[in-house]
Amino acid sequence: MRTTTIRLRLCGALATVLVAAGIASGPAAQADERPPTLAELAQEHGRYYGSATDNPELTDGPYKALLGSEFDQITPGNGMKWYATEPQQGVFDFAKGDEIVNLARANHQKVRGHTLVWHSQLPGWLTGREWTAPELRAVLKKHIQTEVRHYRGKVFAWDVVNEAFNEDGTYRETVFYKTLGPGYIADSLRWARQADPRVRLYLNDYNIEAVGPKSDAYHRLAKKLKARGVPLDGIGMQAHLALQYGYPTSLEDNLRRFSRLGLDTALTEVDVRMLLPADDAKLATQAQWYRDLTEACLAVRRCVGVTLWDYTDKYSWIPAFFPGEGAALPWDEELRPKPAYFAIREALGDE
Ligand code: G3I
Repeated sequence: MRTTTIRLRLCGALATVLVAAGIASGPAAQADERPPTLAELAQEHGRYYGSATDNPELTDGPYKALLGSEFDQITPGNGMKWYATEPQQGVFDFAKGDEIVNLARANHQKVRGHTLVWHSQLPGWLTGREWTAPELRAVLKKHIQTEVRHYRGKVFAWDVVNEAFNEDGTYRETVFYKTLGPGYIADSLRWARQADPRVRLYLNDYNIEAVGPKSDAYHRLAKKLKARGVPLDGIGMQAHLALQYGYPTSLEDNLRRFSRLGLDTALTEVDVRMLLPADDAKLATQAQWYRDLTEACLAVRRCVGVTLWDYTDKYSWIPAFFPGEGAALPWDEELRPKPAYFAIREALGDE
């Protein structure tokens, strides 16, 4: 994509010459001088810049156009989760995920698969009864392998296990942990690898951007898994940040210590919420945080990219989950870019 940007800039220069020579003029020449997108800027650094999206939003034309033009990676916000993909035991429905994958293909975007094993948004048939360990093992293996096989070659990475730890670094007592013990994580990774030898396999969680008990737990687990030859390729840090809790200043060091284990890292679900109403000061701080987190990823070789948890306040999950908070994304509810958007551009080296 380096080529694309260079080509565009040459086009711009060429247009200027042609205009000066009276050979070309007006809008056609100016159209070639469109600024590079976040995706193009990120690609100059060998990274992607992405956004989550969700099926219902795809009827919104202007939203869909920006999603398709500004980003080179998308993540389905809900469409690949267990409740959506296996609504009845053994009956799989990939319609929602497929819609996102097809959109990505049309826009030449990569897809992060999200997510195979999570305690939330599970189907009723799974949560509504007790399971023996052998039963649940079989259910888990089938779910993982059927979904990973379906998306083989179509997603470049999977969040295999999502949110496995508590804040204090103990294992979250999910149905999987309680029934199968902590080994369900290694098993899930192995099953995913069997189903797709090439896809990048991640563990993903929130509040692990800074060095602390929860990210320490991931570091310990990742080290152990790597030592045992379990197929783990990366750690996804969701980065659902909030102005009132402070910026995770150890983010860059933290990314680096996972790189040293031979792992990729990614910022997978970025948003920076604030107490409403937003004002200029809060938006300026938010912009600084987006700048800082983008720079942190660029500073660490194995941080492969950044994904916003949707790109516009119009479709953010925040107001529904944190009443009184919001304005978390770089575009506002009218799809207008906010200071955060320009800060990201600067961090990515836009001239
Ligand atoms: O599908 C139903 C719809 O039929 C119904 O009319 C509507 C009424 O509320 O609800 C719809 O379900 C909603 C679902 O999203 C799909 O839109 C749920 O209520 C809502 O709770 C659910 O929220 C999702 C949330 O995960 C659930 O925990 C968000 O959209 C999604 O962005 C969010 O994503 C998670 C990541 O997967 C993991 N990390 C945290 C992140 C934020 O919570």
